[in-house]
Amino acid sequence: MPFENLPPSDFRDASNARLWGLPDGFLFGVSTAAYQVEGAANEDGRGPSSWDAFSHEAGRILDGSNGDVATDHYHRYPQDIALMKQLGVDAYRFSFSWSRIQPTGDGATNAAGLDFYDRLVDGLLEAGIAPSPTLFHWDTPLPLEERGGWLNRDTADRFADYAGIVAEHFADRVKRWITINEPVVLTMLGYGAGIQAPGLQLGFGAFPAAHHLLLGHGKAVTALRAAGATNIGIANNHAPTWPASNNPEDLQAAGLYDNLANWLFSDPILLGRYPEVMEPLLPEGFADDLAKISVPIDWYGVNYYNPVKVAAPSEEAGALIDGHELDSSLPFSLVDIEGYPRTDFDWPVVPEAFTALLVDFKERYGERLPPIYITENGCAINDGPDASGRVADTRRIDYTAAHLAAVGDAVAAGVDVRGYFHWSLLDNFEWAVGYSQRFGLVYVDYETQERIPKDSFHWYRDVIAALRTA
Ligand code: FCB
Repeated sequence: MPFENLPPSDFRDASNARLWGLPDGFLFGVSTAAYQVEGAANEDGRGPSSWDAFSHEAGRILDGSNGDVATDHYHRYPQDIALMKQLGVDAYRFSFSWSRIQPTGDGATNAAGLDFYDRLVDGLLEAGIAPSPTLFHWDTPLPLEERGGWLNRDTADRFADYAGIVAEHFADRVKRWITINEPVVLTMLGYGAGIQAPGLQLGFGAFPAAHHLLLGHGKAVTALRAAGATNIGIANNHAPTWPASNNPEDLQAAGLYDNLANWLFSDPILLGRYPEVMEPLLPEGFADDLAKISVPIDWYGVNYYNPVKVAAPSEEAGALIDGHELDSSLPFSLVDIEGYPRTDFDWPVVPEAFTALLVDFKERYGERLPPIYITENGCAINDGPDASGRVADTRRIDYTAAHLAAVGDAVAAGVDVRGYFHWSLLDNFEWAVGYSQRFGLVYVDYETQERIPKDSFHWYRDVIAALRTA
């Protein structure tokens, strides 16, 4: 199915954004993450992180690249702020690099690291853009990783200390906070499958990392509040899980996957308990931590990209993750989703699953569900500049329009969604696949670091403007 068939096609006309049903005051933003954009890996006292070590290991990153320079946001942030001002976004979601602020993950803070974020935060405020930082987007300080990283319970305490340091420094100016990005991906791909840093292949032995990330989240919420921070959430990835068929083996495998990929990471926060089937895999004494994990948050962040189709385990090769096959001893297998458009990363484009996911959240959590922000959504579309220098990424426009309309449908069904952060402002270092996949509204020439706003950039600006004047 071609992108043009995404419903309805008149969405390319930004003035039609009013028809999507997004509520008044809906917040528009863009997202990035430190290791993916900053570069300056060895400058101004920054310590190494798990991602520096991993990306420098031979064979780990598809194109042999790393984040040493990335998009040089560390030096070019004034230009990037100017681009965001042009877009008219309300907020910028970026992440603090823990090892820039606390080079070894505990102990002394690095004044030069805080200075960089002072310049960034102050520049954003001057441009009328609300800084909306994530404390941790996967880049664990290397000395902590070497002590077991998130498999080690102590990392949750180190993280809470770091959260306190950052909040003491920034709570006067930062009015929206995100603790952790996608603990599910770090657990499953980082500690379980070895596709991302730290590259361990523990399979179900990765569960302690999930628990300690959630504990770190809860402790960070408490530390942030103690230092005067308000308006705190988490950014959790959610992949609606479709069983491959109605046969009992597929249904069972899909049920397990759904608990593992989705509810394992939201139930403890929103309900104060784990899905029962997950309990045997958790570290001893986990129940004693649930009160800390479920400390109330002000809003819940959903990152959505695509649904996943799951079948009973199979010897046959199924869907790949970042070009890697999953371990065939797992109690499920992933199956390609057919009949939908695909991004250049080969991810299926299914906006209606986004609506269904948000409605599921309302049904599952009811009164316990705080307002939702979409903290990430976007697509890899690798179009580059044509002879005239224009980047005509029409498929990104179609993707984004269809997903914003899908959010509008969820709002119409009674889900309280307050805002949307597009992933990403810039093309950047896409983890295990390096610079091969481009998610930006702005094209980056990695040789010259030139930024070229794509057609989707101009379209997003027009959408925001149309809704402001509606
Ligand atoms: C999410 C990550 C983000 C980016 C997008 C494409 O899982 O949080 O950093 O890589 O995927």
